[in-house]
Amino acid sequence: RERKRKEGVNLLELSAAFFRERLKMPEASGAREYLATRGLSTDVQQIFGIGYAPDDWEALKRHLTERGVSEAVQVEYGLLVHREESGRTYDRFRDRVMFPIRDIKGRTIAFGGRVLGDAKPKYLNSPETPVFHKGRELYGLHEARQADHRLERLVIVEGYMDVVALAQFGIRNAVATLGTSTSEDHLSRLFRLVGEVVFCFDGDRAGRQAATRALETVLPLMIDGRQARFLFLPEGEDPDTLVRREGADAFNDRITCASPLSEFLFDQASAGRDLARVEDRERYASQVLAALGKLPEGVLKSLMLSELSRRTGVDQSSFAALMARAAPSPS
Ligand code: UTP
Ligand code: MN
Ligand code: MN
Ligand code: MN
Ligand code: MN
Repeated sequence: RERKRKEGVNLLELSAAFFRERLKMPEASGAREYLATRGLSTDVQQIFGIGYAPDDWEALKRHLTERGVSEAVQVEYGLLVHREESGRTYDRFRDRVMFPIRDIKGRTIAFGGRVLGDAKPKYLNSPETPVFHKGRELYGLHEARQADHRLERLVIVEGYMDVVALAQFGIRNAVATLGTSTSEDHLSRLFRLVGEVVFCFDGDRAGRQAATRALETVLPLMIDGRQARFLFLPEGEDPDTLVRREGADAFNDRITCASPLSEFLFDQASAGRDLARVEDRERYASQVLAALGKLPEGVLKSLMLSELSRRTGVDQSSFAALMARAAPSPS
């Protein structure tokens, strides 16, 4: 098992080095220009090990095969695609800017590749392999720790480009889930490293839905004074576009002012309701209570209960009774 992991990592490091070298060649002028139009300096490209997969069906395959890596292993680690019908194999990543995905120790475990233009799919990622489990990993975590080993806060964004663009502006503590929603597994890993996470998804419908799901996911993890906050971007912006438009200071101010979990939770429950009405207040209270039911017992929960009581004018002890009744019976 451990031997297998080493073999895979070697092959992935060989591939990452190959992509980096290829980015320097004349054939990669389009890719270099693309990275320049996205505002990425060669310094930041180096920090993240960004490379280029040439426009060739077998360039990486030749490179790896010459170095003794079998085709079967190249397929297993997602670099080669095996076509069942013809029995042929070909490079998965072609004519794309390549982002190595590293584990926390900095070992390359997978890749994400972006097309230079508007073709689909925009990003192509490695499939699940013996070393890559998409729902577990966070892009940029190794790089964030390299920048500061005593990190206190991590900003969770949606995309590779968001992480890299923020780093370009000196904001080195962003990580991205890899096209999946933020899982409890992601969050408990992050809370082992930092006391505070700030969710900062795209300013669109999908981003707002992601924030709502993130709230649900983070509630049970709110212990030991952990902080979770929510930063909402203007419509149509993502961290990459916004930091380029506004600069680092303005973006850092937004991070500083991001809504604490309690505020987001109350805002969500009041959205579309007229709290002057008794019935709306009742639904508001049930929605907040349902969320509070997921919070661990503690000071935060008590404070939120008394805040709910203040906002609805209902005595706190009746909430406590309601919550006890709503709580699932122990099994
Ligand atoms: P976005 O489409 O928001 O990516 O998808 P982005 O980073 O803003 O892309 P740019 O700025 O146009 O380059 C967010 C993330 O979802 C995953 C990737 O991880 C991406 O970074 N994704 C998106 C895919 O895996 N495949 C896709 O085709 C699109
Ligand atoms: Mn495994
Ligand atoms: Mn989006
Ligand atoms: Mn985006
Ligand atoms: Mn983007």
